[in-house]
Amino acid sequence: MSDQPEQGNLADPDATNRVLSMALGLATVQLVRIAAQFGIADALQDGPRSADEIAAACGMFGATAARVFRALVGIGILTELEPDRYECTAEGRLLARKVDGSLRDFVLLETSEPYMQMWTRFDQSVRTGEPAFEEVHGTNIYDYFLEDSRKRKLFYDAMTALSKQEGLVLRDSYDFSNSRCVIDLGGGHGWLLIRLLQANPEMRGILFDLAPVIEGAESVVRDSGVGDRCMMVSGDLFESVPAEGDVYILKRILMDKDDEAALEVLANVREAMSASATLLIADPDVQTPTGTLNDMLMLVGCGSPVRTEEQYRDLVHRAGLRLTRAIETPSIIRLFVAIRA
Ligand SMILES: C[S@@+](CC[C@H](N)C(=O)[O-])C[C@H]1O[C@@H](n2cnc3c(N)ncnc32)[C@H](O)[C@@H]1O
Repeated sequence: MSDQPEQGNLADPDATNRVLSMALGLATVQLVRIAAQFGIADALQDGPRSADEIAAACGMFGATAARVFRALVGIGILTELEPDRYECTAEGRLLARKVDGSLRDFVLLETSEPYMQMWTRFDQSVRTGEPAFEEVHGTNIYDYFLEDSRKRKLFYDAMTALSKQEGLVLRDSYDFSNSRCVIDLGGGHGWLLIRLLQANPEMRGILFDLAPVIEGAESVVRDSGVGDRCMMVSGDLFESVPAEGDVYILKRILMDKDDEAALEVLANVREAMSASATLLIADPDVQTPTGTLNDMLMLVGCGSPVRTEEQYRDLVHRAGLRLTRAIETPSIIRLFVAIRA
């Protein structure tokens, strides 16, 4: 560090602006939440409207609403076509309730009170490597969100929002045409499998998750029209997993486990896999900026890492498996293909 006294030089204005904006990032997070929570994108689904019209439709206080809309223009959720005429950007439209690829439920989880409380202790996770979530809430993330039906809905609706899109990404990024039985381990409410089964009429699927989650998935899978080809199995990844698959999928599962826990799960998967079976591991790609943010979420939430290709190669090797391929996708998800070593 320099001992020189400050000279009073003007700092780089662009860098200054960017840092001010980063420091105010919490306002961005909360604005995105407000847009999702108050249904601003839903109110704009039939076309542009004035601030008063949106405020009335969304139950917002008029004078405040105009300021909020101006800020939403600033962060790229709305555009102002002409004075007092707002419409959603592509990003804003993803906050609507009923739109392909809606991220509304994901936003509501990420900006929820339990998550906001967790982030206040991020520094503690950075210091110790331990998940602040447990320190703040006294229990791990899954036990917490399985505690009651309201919390369960908040968490699993968010997972569904991701899986509806990432199911399409996997469908288009890997050749499932010869896969007879695909098992989604920790598959939540089943949208990844639904996407695969809808695209492959000969395929059967097994959805595997904890008992209360499978209970919640039953009507979702039944209503999707592929229920007759999808078996629902409740169980624990740390005990054993079903054995009939020729493809096993772990999407967003290993990222929330440290090496010891991940190896326990992988040992059970390997045990279940036949010599010709394939394991697909799908996690965010830490080569992308959004992937690195997801890694921070894992640090503060679970104390675990989102792994690089090298880390996966090493991890699966220790589990008696061999990484054969890493596949980039158009999403933040990267696919790692493994077989028995
Ligand atoms: C981060 S979510 C990912 C869900 C889904 N695979 C996706 O990508 O949207 C982790 C999933 O693993 C399930 N899970 C957590 N612990 C489990 C366990 N011990 N056995 C089985 N499933 C578990 C959770 O219920 C949840 O559905």
